[in-house]
Amino acid sequence: MGWYDDHILPHCITLACNTRPVRLQREKIVPQATGDVLEIGFGGGPNLPYYDRRNIRKVWGLEPAAAMRKLAEAPIAASGIDVELIGLPGEEIPLDAASIDTVLVTYTLCTIGDVAATLAGMRRVLRPGGRLLFCEHGSAPDPGVRHWQDKLNSGWGRITGGCNMNRDIPYIIETAGFSIIEDNRMYIPGLRILSYNFWGAAVIR
Ligand SMILES: C[S@@+](CC[C@H](N)C(=O)[O-])C[C@H]1O[C@@H](n2cnc3c(N)ncnc32)[C@H](O)[C@@H]1O
Repeated sequence: MGWYDDHILPHCITLACNTRPVRLQREKIVPQATGDVLEIGFGGGPNLPYYDRRNIRKVWGLEPAAAMRKLAEAPIAASGIDVELIGLPGEEIPLDAASIDTVLVTYTLCTIGDVAATLAGMRRVLRPGGRLLFCEHGSAPDPGVRHWQDKLNSGWGRITGGCNMNRDIPYIIETAGFSIIEDNRMYIPGLRILSYNFWGAAVIR
């Protein structure tokens, strides 16, 4: 972790993930969380205002970046939600098997290094009947847009802490042994190479 990653990047990510179109996406998915929740890639806590507090018991927030966890402290305190921050990556979920009702992941599957291991961990901790809620950006359906996503992906990753703009999110989720039971996708307002969104719910197959 260099100075840029510690001092500049967390604020850039927080700003980029707080545009109005992104906030509207959060509104669609986060309130569906119930019970014991595991949020992967908690960031600075941008989802906290969208939880339906009547339906959740506790949130475990997995966030490997210390700078992001620091940014999350004030929003957690203000939220009144019981949040336990865990300084580990998604590849190392430390919770018991079948202990979680909802896994929530927003704008993070693009960045995780070993996404297959992370999804395997999500499957392990979900209770029978539990759901994976996701809202992510990724691979666009238009060949012209996809061409530029593929071309710019590695440079983009270098300045964004490893974000990929061209991941096929539903394919990744399904390949990991989930069935997507609610499947939504569209461009949200913004740069087309970054704004094709996938959101919905998946269950263990
Ligand atoms: C673009 S931000 C999204 C943050 C938040 N989920 C949101 O919706 O705005 C991606 C987050 O994933 C975190 N991250 C990076 N690698 C990760 C990993 N291997 N496991 C879990 N989170 C990771 C980053 O530190 C960052 O906080």
